[in-house]
Amino acid sequence: MGEIQAADRPGRGLKTIFIRQALLCLVLISSSGALIAGAKPGKAAIASAHYLATEAGHEILEQGGNAFDAAIAVSSTLAVVEPTSSGIGGGAFWLIHRASDGFQTMIDAREQAPAAAHKDMYLDEEGNVNRDLAVNGPLAGGIPGEIAGLEHLAKNYGRLSLATSLQPAIRIAREGFPVDEKYHAMMGWRIDTIKRWPAAAEVLLADGEKPPVGHIIKLPDLAWVLEQVAERGAEGFYSGPVAERLVKGVREAGGIWTMEDLAAYVVKERDPIRTMYGDYELVTAPPPSSGGVAIAEILNVLEPYPINDLAPVLRTHLIVEAMRRAYRDRAIYLGDPDFVEVPVEMLTSQYYADGLRASIRPDRATPSSMLAGNDQIQEGTDTTHFSIIDADGNMVAATLTVNLPFGSAFMPPGTGLLVNNEMDDFSAKEGEPNAFGLIGFQANEIKPFKRPLSSMSPTFMIGADKRAVIGTPGGGRIITMVLLGILDFIKGNEPESWVSLPRFHHQYVPDQISAESNTFSPEQVEGLRAMGHEVEVRDRPWGNMHGAMWNLETGEVTAGSDPRWPSGRAIVK
Ligand code: DON
Repeated sequence: MGEIQAADRPGRGLKTIFIRQALLCLVLISSSGALIAGAKPGKAAIASAHYLATEAGHEILEQGGNAFDAAIAVSSTLAVVEPTSSGIGGGAFWLIHRASDGFQTMIDAREQAPAAAHKDMYLDEEGNVNRDLAVNGPLAGGIPGEIAGLEHLAKNYGRLSLATSLQPAIRIAREGFPVDEKYHAMMGWRIDTIKRWPAAAEVLLADGEKPPVGHIIKLPDLAWVLEQVAERGAEGFYSGPVAERLVKGVREAGGIWTMEDLAAYVVKERDPIRTMYGDYELVTAPPPSSGGVAIAEILNVLEPYPINDLAPVLRTHLIVEAMRRAYRDRAIYLGDPDFVEVPVEMLTSQYYADGLRASIRPDRATPSSMLAGNDQIQEGTDTTHFSIIDADGNMVAATLTVNLPFGSAFMPPGTGLLVNNEMDDFSAKEGEPNAFGLIGFQANEIKPFKRPLSSMSPTFMIGADKRAVIGTPGGGRIITMVLLGILDFIKGNEPESWVSLPRFHHQYVPDQISAESNTFSPEQVEGLRAMGHEVEVRDRPWGNMHGAMWNLETGEVTAGSDPRWPSGRAIVK
């Protein structure tokens, strides 16, 4: 963020810039741990989608682990108790902050397309996308990254061995866990697909039917896989008997994975997206996530407006117009940065945001069809997040996924794990919506070894006075949920407020605002419609946000779990 660009912006004088630079300095010095005397939270916060995972994280902290060891325990436990949402058959992004030196990176364990994948692999003879192949069964699965990511975390950042941090997950997989409301509800949606794959049906259903809440699920094969990893590290998954079972199961059911694909999987560290918003540094997910670029772009557009002080209709309108423009860019430019050149610097620059802002009318919606780029278009829940701050100030924001509820619903026999259906996050055909209605073009077309574009947005907000850890599942809506959470944090609210806020969303195509039923009053809906917005109020809520915050001024550590699903748990101790 250069001075000249900032000074050119309306309503922003040199004094503001000077104060911002000074604060930035303070923030940077304090994030190195050097400035604030004895600045350690002293307590640890973990907020995740399942009480057993939150408890597993604290168990590992109590054994002398740090936030990164706890992240392994939470991730692997979620992989057992929340098969709707993530698993070792899927992938993840862990955004980490090391307190000792302020080092920040994102561990990218996103799934990777197998070698035999190709651009048209989901198209039928008429060139239409076969949605069943794209989301159900083994052909929908990318090569899983989660285990490689867990090993990377343990080896490079943890204090304990990988084997130690995996123990809670192994124990729970053997002893069993109770079906909760989310499992029950999501199984209602996926049961017919689960029934197509006998190994999955055998362990995830009760006598072939949807198990009631409280029914105990045991996953001994998954415990065995985790034990192989505990003994041999990631090699215990990507080669040897586990890999053989994975490849055999996938290929016998019509998939294309090979032993070489598994052996070729590598974890990557990526530099986070960073930008200033007010007095806070946004640190968030870079490509192959689209989340960080989009959030930075939206915040840059909004920054000159006193956004949290505006009347609700105008506030919503401006946020929606910024969302619309960022999702347009997501569709056109974003993809795996190892395969396509993503213009990150341009998209996250103030100069670019100034241009976008200039095209926003304060009183009228801009139809998406009027935005440049739209002519390329021909036509046209499940994942998990947790947040950790440990007693030393290390932080982890992690979003993990198998994509749709229960992933592809395919379980290779003898493994207890569900194969993801992350290949649907690629654009199977230009401009054709995926399961989240998201569109994409060449930047996100399928190629061997490429990673599908994600919306997962694990995020930190780093200020001299406060640090926040935030994220959520929700497909294409992740970006806008995290954005609304950030604005609520900026307003001075606590994690409990960010996670329970009513939500609204716009993603360029379709050209409509969708909102949870408690978001707008009837008058506000009328006000937005009068500006030309289409508003769709949904009766079902979305997202499952879990956040944590350290207030350096009061020394308090707080955390919040989304009230939309009862199994989530935030524990500070
Ligand atoms: O990586 C992504 O963006 C998606 N696979 C996330 C899917 C998701 O959040 C589903 N949740 N409701």
